[in-house]
Amino acid sequence: MINIGLLGFGTVGSAVFTVLAERKAEMEACLKQKIRIKRILERDMAKHKSSEAFPLMTTEVADIIADPEIDVLIELTGDVKNMIEPLRRSISAGKHLITANKALLSKYLEELTELASKHEVAFRYEAAVAGAVPILILMKNISALNEVLEIEGVLNGTCNYLLSRMEAGLDYDTALAEAQALGFSEADPSSDVEGYDTMYKLRILSSLAFKQPVLESDISCTGITGVTKAEIEQALSQGQRIKLVAKATRDEKGEITATVKPTAVERDQLLGSLDNGENAIILRTSNAGTLTFSGLGAGGRPTAFSVLSDLMQIYEVLS
Ligand code: HSE
Repeated sequence: MINIGLLGFGTVGSAVFTVLAERKAEMEACLKQKIRIKRILERDMAKHKSSEAFPLMTTEVADIIADPEIDVLIELTGDVKNMIEPLRRSISAGKHLITANKALLSKYLEELTELASKHEVAFRYEAAVAGAVPILILMKNISALNEVLEIEGVLNGTCNYLLSRMEAGLDYDTALAEAQALGFSEADPSSDVEGYDTMYKLRILSSLAFKQPVLESDISCTGITGVTKAEIEQALSQGQRIKLVAKATRDEKGEITATVKPTAVERDQLLGSLDNGENAIILRTSNAGTLTFSGLGAGGRPTAFSVLSDLMQIYEVLS
């Protein structure tokens, strides 16, 4: 039996609960083990009184960390300050960790990686970069077998949605309200539109690809709040579209240049073809050439897919 402690029951946490219930039989057949969510951490339990998940809920993270039956934590709170210490304790207590918490990973990636390795537990975070797009699962092989020369991508669903809807004539506020209603945005959407969410993802992705820490302070970051309707129309009239593009390159000396900024890209190229919540990543590598990945970058079910892929991966390797 795999016992899960689920931390957070927002857009992604509740989607994980639902998708796991829907796909349980198939997952259990694959893993040859039963799976259950044993406890759920949720600050505002009263909101979920009528949910099937309610009897599993607690407001105390200690109830989950101290439960010796819980094998794996799935952390989807988005909270950095209150989560880092419980996650350290949980890894030290031998529990595997899956997280989609980009802001937390951006701050503590190396520390948590080392701690997980020391305690011989799995530490996975596929859902933290580009939603449903399976990129991190391949990164170990890609970076071991190649020098990664350049990473380029659109890594934020909210910004891509906003820019797509503004091309269709919507104003910024209406488009942002739609992105929030679709469950794309962070609780505080300034992290999306100011580019920080993309920066966190580029920090994670490029550290793995280049096999050296690329920190937030190494990335020059500009969001989309300054993009005007006139600039969007101007780009369209020239066969281009404005996207929030993340880019990191490493030169022969190992120097890394990393930026997040609104960029006009050709409409008929991959990044220019992305609509709404779609994300894409282009890797230029020394042996495999150019590799491209794309798919839904935000939203409950696409992100739940990546979270549960991590779960499958941990227990496929172990079983
Ligand atoms: N707020 C994020 C986005 C969610 O819009 O891409 C997925 O990481």
